[in-house]
Amino acid sequence: MTEPRFVPLPPRHDPGIAPEEALRAFHETLRTRRSVRMFSDRSVSREVIEGIVTCAATAPSGANKQPWRFVCVSDPATKRQIRLAAEEEERAFYKRRANDEWLRDLAPLGTDEDKSYLEIAPWLVVVFKQVRTESGGQIYYADESVGISVGMFLVAAHVAGLVTLTHTPSPMKFLADLLGRPANERAFVLLPIGYPSDDCEVPEHALTRKPLDEIADFR
Ligand SMILES: Cc1cc2nc3c(=O)[nH]c(=O)nc-3n(C[C@H](O)[C@H](O)[C@H](O)COP(=O)(O)O)c2cc1C
Repeated sequence: MTEPRFVPLPPRHDPGIAPEEALRAFHETLRTRRSVRMFSDRSVSREVIEGIVTCAATAPSGANKQPWRFVCVSDPATKRQIRLAAEEEERAFYKRRANDEWLRDLAPLGTDEDKSYLEIAPWLVVVFKQVRTESGGQIYYADESVGISVGMFLVAAHVAGLVTLTHTPSPMKFLADLLGRPANERAFVLLPIGYPSDDCEVPEHALTRKPLDEIADFR
């Protein structure tokens, strides 16, 4: 058993303004993040993607296991393979797998099986979660941990002036096969990332957020 050792809390971010003011500014930044499905092919450097992944990796995780793996793909041939495989799954989803309620819920977003953005976006970041460590050890709260990390990824990309889509082709097993991932990993989410196209539009539906009194309960 490793004995715990403690160090003083390292110097941390000081907003230098009242929390209410800092939060207003941060909310202003956050509320303009949008899931984008119309990408430009404008390139993004590997360094920028590394910076975003580095931000995502600051996330907390169960027992600090850091069970996230980010496979960053810019190779056109691999992007094409991912697009073709994703579109095959999506065709089956829209034709057979999705029930009526799911299709009704998706209708305002105008999504369909065309995933051409998977080839146009300069990078596809495929996030995998570990269900076991490389050596077969336990992972705790993998979904929660990787979910938080992905949230941080989305915010970091937004702060860097880029756009993303949180894409979950269902099922996603093809991603592990195609990218040759080890047996202890499961695909978690596919994140195209880049700049929006000049004519980029987003569904109006996505702009709405539930009011605070519906989502929060203060006691
Ligand atoms: C877990 C998760 C899965 C999602 N899967 C898809 C998807 O497969 N395809 C897609 O076009 N959008 C997907 N989205 C994006 C949502 O439709 C989008 O977040 C929502 O409509 C709100 O829009 P906004 O992100 O612009 O605020 C997903 C979002 C989340 C969080």
